[in-house]
Amino acid sequence: MKEFLAENKKIFENYLSTRLKELDGMAEPIGSAVKYALDGGKRIRPILCILGAEFMGKGFEEIKNLALGVECIHNYSLCHDDLPCMDNDDLRHGKPSTHKKFGEGMGVLAGDGLLNLAFEFMFDGEHNQNYFKAVAYISKMSGVFGMVGGQCIDIAAGDFRQKTLQEVIELNMLKTACLFKAALVGSSISLGANDQEIESLEEFAEKIGLIFQIVDDILDVTSNEKELGKNINSDIKENKITYLSICGMEKAKQDILHLENEAIEAVAKYGDRANNLIKLAKFLTNRSK
Ligand code: IPE
Ligand code: IPE
Ligand code: MG
Ligand code: MG
Ligand code: MG
Repeated sequence: MKEFLAENKKIFENYLSTRLKELDGMAEPIGSAVKYALDGGKRIRPILCILGAEFMGKGFEEIKNLALGVECIHNYSLCHDDLPCMDNDDLRHGKPSTHKKFGEGMGVLAGDGLLNLAFEFMFDGEHNQNYFKAVAYISKMSGVFGMVGGQCIDIAAGDFRQKTLQEVIELNMLKTACLFKAALVGSSISLGANDQEIESLEEFAEKIGLIFQIVDDILDVTSNEKELGKNINSDIKENKITYLSICGMEKAKQDILHLENEAIEAVAKYGDRANNLIKLAKFLTNRSK
């Protein structure tokens, strides 16, 4: 899986850099701030778009603008997530967060700009009805019924009321799993996935999205800034209520394994079509950065 990820990350990076060249005329400093915010990261969501295409028997070419779009939305969410009014973190992708480098106003605007850019990329070219259905799905998963809704619950946790585990699962589902769904399911919808396929992929994306956020919360306390490229102990500093803070390390790790089994179960019936999805689930369970 490591090679698969590295290879596809490279394909995505190459495409992103050609498309960014077209944007050379952007006003400054917003142009530089947008490019800065987009630079770095593991590119898991574009890879999920590629896996959605692979599941439908297609490749990068067919979903490349959706991959760009989802990654723009993801990086806008990080840009805003790091702002002083949210998590107040000054390190991202191994360098100062966008607002640290360009100032707070520009940090807000770079996020705004990236969100629009996502739709400029995704609506590029001529498309069929399935494609529009996919972009509508991605919009919904990213907004108040998805990622934005989750970020809202996350920062509203500042009320210090103890959350139940069910509420934290719901929070993680919205803030993190919804963008995983946007990528994987959005991509497959654009290529004509049927209802049963959509349902299975949604379930898979939800489970690995939950795994991803619990592992993120664990790494926040067990890893280091050099490895992660972002501040550690951020959740403790901001008094965040996370899966880990409620359950403790032991149960969190056990639950990740349960989620991995459930993720695999959701797509195992598709045989070879789901091989790389299953490998990805295992990889994300064991990731260290
Ligand atoms: C960070 O996502 C935000 C979470 C949902 C935990 P990633 O860890 O995928 O961020 P990058 O893009 O690889 O830095
Ligand atoms: C953020 O979760 C999820 C987003 C939607 C950006 P975190 O706040 O835990 O992400 P990191 O740890 O800052 O990357
Ligand atoms: Mg956050
Ligand atoms: Mg954060
Ligand atoms: Mg985190």
